[in-house]
Amino acid sequence: MTTSFLALFSHQTQGGLRERLCNTLRQAIANGHLRHEQKLPSSRQLATDLSLSRVTVEAAYAQLESEGYLQRHGGRGTFVSIRMASPTSKTRTERSPHFSQRGLQVLATGGCQDLPFPHAFAAGSPELRAFPHTQWRRISNQVQRSLGSKVMGYGDPLGLPSLRQAVADYLALSRGVHCTAEQVVILTSSQQALQLLALMFLDAGDEVWLEEPGYPGARNAFLAAGARCRAMPLDAEGAVPLSGSAKLVYLTPAHHYPTGTAMSLARRLQWLTWARQQDSWLIEDDYDSEFHYEDRPAPALQGLAADCRVICLGTFSKTLFPSLRLAWMVVPPQLVEPLGRARSVMDGHSALLPQAICAEFLQQGHFASHLRLMRQLYRSRRDCLLQQIETRLTPWLEPLPAAGGLQLAVRLLQGDEAHLTAEAKESGLLLPRLSPLYAGEVQQAGWLLGFAALTPGEIVSACDKLVTLLSQPAQSSR
Ligand SMILES: Cc1ncc(COP(=O)(O)O)c(C=O)c1O
Repeated sequence: MTTSFLALFSHQTQGGLRERLCNTLRQAIANGHLRHEQKLPSSRQLATDLSLSRVTVEAAYAQLESEGYLQRHGGRGTFVSIRMASPTSKTRTERSPHFSQRGLQVLATGGCQDLPFPHAFAAGSPELRAFPHTQWRRISNQVQRSLGSKVMGYGDPLGLPSLRQAVADYLALSRGVHCTAEQVVILTSSQQALQLLALMFLDAGDEVWLEEPGYPGARNAFLAAGARCRAMPLDAEGAVPLSGSAKLVYLTPAHHYPTGTAMSLARRLQWLTWARQQDSWLIEDDYDSEFHYEDRPAPALQGLAADCRVICLGTFSKTLFPSLRLAWMVVPPQLVEPLGRARSVMDGHSALLPQAICAEFLQQGHFASHLRLMRQLYRSRRDCLLQQIETRLTPWLEPLPAAGGLQLAVRLLQGDEAHLTAEAKESGLLLPRLSPLYAGEVQQAGWLLGFAALTPGEIVSACDKLVTLLSQPAQSSR
């Protein structure tokens, strides 16, 4: 008890020692740290603990007794004599935080949720059990030995130069991105990239266009900035431009989230012309481009545009591991300095040691080999899930194009999505819903079935549960 007195007492700076002690005790009683009829330490004990004279403590106890807070019982000690009303819901409401308009907009998004994995069928999960831990550990030791305290101080908000270079090299070779290392900004996540762009480009009421259905993380970042989000329809070639203009357009050309459609070359060129004419920015989320299982994905949209109105971003969350918290964004030269300054206001910079390890991992060629292996593994798992659906689940599920990615979008052909999802959860099966990815009225029922983090055995037993769930009699259709 006296430890908390000590903390409270040291916070009191006004007045003499007796007055400070009185304030400490009044506050402890008001906050409920000292309750009705609770015994206080003896004046001798409290004086020793707080390094006060016993006379001061006696005087404070006497003062509070005269105020009605305490009662002294000769021979038994000093007790709290007042009963403080416990805070009612009204007072709790009164104390509720007064968030800003912006804060309320952030809360209204409902937040972004990441499902736990490996867990059937959590979406977007890489297979962490196949991660090359030995190589990562070796490089980590090597980096710590060679860089030591150089990676323990503050760093550049734009990222560690070696990682910016490694990312620029990787993107040029594998994604056809045209950039120098100076144009690469290293961030914590794609989500941070989207938030940074929203902060820098959007005023309340500005228009942003997003694919329908689309990635909720992007929608949340723009809604949180007070933007008006408009849904763009999709056809077989990708997102179709709306009429009017937008400050920002969010696109997933390599592999549309969540349907898997790849944007055609003609549509890419149409978007580039549109952005030039409108003086707008295209945000290219180069999401899942590393995991294509049939042909190589088309090069990044960014690489097609000489006068670049494209900001291209991607993440190591899926290609390495999510808790690494490293992602990248390639920006035109005129945006580098302002975005770096803005990032310094947000959170300074990403941790240096993981950046240095990641740079070496890329430069020594381990990233490329890891991706090759994962591509094979994920492809076989996708095939396993497709085969399960074809042989056992066709009356209920229809897969959407599945040329890449870590999850498979399926349409639900009969049954109620929300009801079935809740039932599945009861039996330990996660079914990430498709319909909430639609912002408009017309929604497709279905699920995003994550397969990459599941072994074939785990896929089969999860499908067993799905068959049992779906073959229950009479689900009302949505
Ligand atoms: C389209 C898309 N972009 C980005 C991300 C996440 O990236 P990060 O973890 O870097 O925010 C996801 C995650 O599932 C995603 O689906």
